Amino acid sequence: MNLTTHIDSVDKLEEALSEPTDPLVEFVKRLHGPLVVLGAAGKMGPTLCLLANRAAEAAGKELDVIAVSRFSSPGSARWFEDHGIRTLSADLLRAGDYKKLPDAENVIFLVGQKFGTSDNPSLTWAVNTIVPARVSERYRSSRIVALSTGNVYPLVPITSRGSTESDPPAPKGEYANACLARERIFEFSAERFGTRSTLVRLNYALELRYGVLVDIATRIKETGRVDVTMGHLNFIWQRDANERVIRSLDLATNPPCLLNLTGRQTHSVRALAEALAREMNRSVEIVGKEADTAFLSDASSCVRHFGDSQVTADELVRLTARWIDAGLPLLGKPTHFEQRDGKY
Ligand SMILES: NC(=O)c1ccc[n+]([C@@H]2O[C@H](COP(=O)([O-])OP(=O)(O)OC[C@H]3O[C@@H](n4cnc5c(N)ncnc54)[C@H](OP(=O)(O)O)[C@@H]3O)[C@@H](O)[C@H]2O)c1
Repeated sequence: MNLTTHIDSVDKLEEALSEPTDPLVEFVKRLHGPLVVLGAAGKMGPTLCLLANRAAEAAGKELDVIAVSRFSSPGSARWFEDHGIRTLSADLLRAGDYKKLPDAENVIFLVGQKFGTSDNPSLTWAVNTIVPARVSERYRSSRIVALSTGNVYPLVPITSRGSTESDPPAPKGEYANACLARERIFEFSAERFGTRSTLVRLNYALELRYGVLVDIATRIKETGRVDVTMGHLNFIWQRDANERVIRSLDLATNPPCLLNLTGRQTHSVRALAEALAREMNRSVEIVGKEADTAFLSDASSCVRHFGDSQVTADELVRLTARWIDAGLPLLGKPTHFEQRDGKY
């Protein structure tokens, strides 16, 4: 689907988010199943599984994609089944549930816990440490792509190109520290078991139901005001993020390969707010003043491996503005990108 067409329904959106690229189709031809996706029922997993399924179809290849999650949101397991994706219900904090998991040559790890960390830090630490420890032992012979976050880096000057993979991490707050612990556990297991893995530090995947553009557009619609203290950020269209996550299986090495996953551009929150307001025919009051630092990642390595995203920020602004204006469904999961103190 071409993004210049109008996306005005969840069906069209999911189709756009799961449209395979030629390189992905080629990659899937070489992939041995099953492909196990752990933590599949969140914001990224459903369309990641569908993207893998459609790439396999286009490649004329049998690929069993198995979505593993607790499926705690009502109807979430049904969505996978309706889209021809096998589900396996498991709570990965429970040792006993690992008996249910199939062997797999390729595993994508999406399990995470971010929001609510301030109220329940012990759960965040448990999800981000105990689960990686058990998974990396269970799948010690597999190739693993495990998601992490750009929040493991410190705030960096907005005049810089952003943190690179070789910069030392300096996480702020319990969530970011727990994410670094997640990475360290995968590294430790790789050393111990010889596992090949890729640790993907993602900065803001977005689609039309959630993400930084949805957050800014919603604020314009509801309050007419946008605070720009956290004045700069990176993002990537979720189809492209998921496409690169799957293809990162090919980058898996021992010791693990580290990869920043985001768009090449640094975006100004002020410019995005003004562009969204224009598209929505509304006014916006800009509040605050841009800080000299922000959470920014350098995507050079990602671009070198996978090329540039073909989707422009202007297209995403236009699509998001129309989606929000029309009151189309949202996931109700704000990113809290404005947080500078690491408290989520
Ligand atoms: N989306 C982004 O922009 C972004 C940015 C940076 C980093 N990341 C990272 O990328 C990964 C995927 O992102 P996402 O946005 O899809 O995350 P998400 O919405 O939080 O999804 C993760 C899913 O993992 C499942 N899960 C949690 N605990 C589990 C357990 N004990 N056993 C089995 N499943 C469990 C949950 O589904 P159930 O409740 O159904 O089990 C949850 O929805 C996460 O690790 C996230 O931290 C994402």
